[in-house]
Amino acid sequence: MTLKFTLAADAPEAVAAPAVVVGLYEDRVLTPAAARIDEKSGGALKRLVEGGDVTGKPGTAVVLFGIGGIGAPRVVVAGLGEQKKLDAAAYHRALTESARVLKGLPIESAVSYLAEVDVPNRDMAWKLRTAALAADLQAYRYTSTFKPKEKSKTPQFDAIAFAGVKAGDAASERALHEATAIANGVRFARELGNLPPNICNPAYIAAQAQKIAGEHAGVTCEVLEREDMQKLGMGSLLGVSRGSDNPPKLVVLKWQGAGAKTRPYVLVGKGITFDSGGISLKPGAGMEEMKFDMCGAAGVLGAFLAAIELKLKLNLVCIVPAVENMPDGNAYRPSDILTSMSGLTIEVLNTDAEGRLILCDALTYAQRFEPEVIIDAATLTGACVVALGKHASGLMTKDDELAEQLLKCGNETMDRAWRLPLWDDYQQQLESGFADVANIGGKYAGAITAGCFLSRFVNGCRWAHLDIAGTAWEEGRKGLATGRPVPLLAQYLIDRSA
Ligand code: BES
Ligand code: MN
Ligand code: ZN
Repeated sequence: MTLKFTLAADAPEAVAAPAVVVGLYEDRVLTPAAARIDEKSGGALKRLVEGGDVTGKPGTAVVLFGIGGIGAPRVVVAGLGEQKKLDAAAYHRALTESARVLKGLPIESAVSYLAEVDVPNRDMAWKLRTAALAADLQAYRYTSTFKPKEKSKTPQFDAIAFAGVKAGDAASERALHEATAIANGVRFARELGNLPPNICNPAYIAAQAQKIAGEHAGVTCEVLEREDMQKLGMGSLLGVSRGSDNPPKLVVLKWQGAGAKTRPYVLVGKGITFDSGGISLKPGAGMEEMKFDMCGAAGVLGAFLAAIELKLKLNLVCIVPAVENMPDGNAYRPSDILTSMSGLTIEVLNTDAEGRLILCDALTYAQRFEPEVIIDAATLTGACVVALGKHASGLMTKDDELAEQLLKCGNETMDRAWRLPLWDDYQQQLESGFADVANIGGKYAGAITAGCFLSRFVNGCRWAHLDIAGTAWEEGRKGLATGRPVPLLAQYLIDRSA
């Protein structure tokens, strides 16, 4: 369950919740709520600031216990950095750090005053939505595959109220409503991403999609089986699936929120439930991270969930090719030639460049819906991680207007993307002596040549590709799926909704 988000009207000193969160700038500048707590506590906060215990530095969040003269037993002081340098990123960091502290405390709820902080060029609705989503991101815990715990007595953090906001304000209420829907989508995507591949296989993803359809009026789900895909001529997708005992599924989820003739937005997500590399086997170290290779699928499903929860007034189709990439005696091989649904033949030079091979058939299939726009999300290339690191998703499109819209949504939701070119100059890297196109483009510009490969299958449709290889999960032994790019995609759909 996502956190419960509400608006509160309490004065900082009167908060009855187990914790109150206030902001503090560097150089001893108190926010209004911090000043109020200081005043009511006889200068307790200023004394800690003077003593250097509480600094207001960016990235700090400290808990003060038992401050006299105020209601809440805990005050979390979030560092905002220098007041004149405060921007959206610094604000976001303070939200994240204070939420991290909150979830470590034995409390069920908190009241936050961070929405009162002025952030240049951002309104109250943005601050609330951002604060709510940052809190929910921190509050999420993955528990599904641990031995079930005895009913634990430690309270779970499950609600946050925002104060210092005009109560009953329609835009603020709307912001929290949207935040709840987006947070639900993010949680869905994270959970699906975090599950191991022996649970989250293609059939599991298909079952999740069917569950969504069963639980929401106006949503339909169709799952294409191997035989259906054979009839459609999806030789590229089917080639990838051949080495796995888990049969491939192609999930098609539809939401009708506008007139039947209105062109739909189509989201396509890479759903490789495990990427061993196939015959071009990956090295052992780090291979476990390839359970996250379905995070594009999880992301578009999460965005779909947010959109239908908000009952957006648009038509939406979500297409997920769900396939496992494994090596066995029946697996596809380097040098195989596959015939895609579009008719284009593909020379497989590396079975580890499988994402583009399932996406190309999904993109061809997408065109039967006469889309307004197609957006795909995929953990497509290690090269994208080299280029942009773990902070930005790679955005590729030839459509400048679409690029601008998506970049803006990324900036707004702090789920940022950065554009890479899709110039035709790169296309020659995909030439093959034996087929219409090769599935790899050589050592340079790997993220872009992957995008160029996909571009050959969209036939002039308005289309954008998000490479989320760096952003979809956190690195390391305990690294979790992030739920990206659900916020970006959900915001894009919200902005398009009539
Ligand atoms: N799923 C991987 C991409 C990936 C790698 C994502 C590492 C995140 C971290 C993809 O299927 C893949 O293996 N790509 C190859 C392409 C290459 C063979 C042209 C890659 O990036 O090495
Ligand atoms: Mn691969
Ligand atoms: Zn992959």
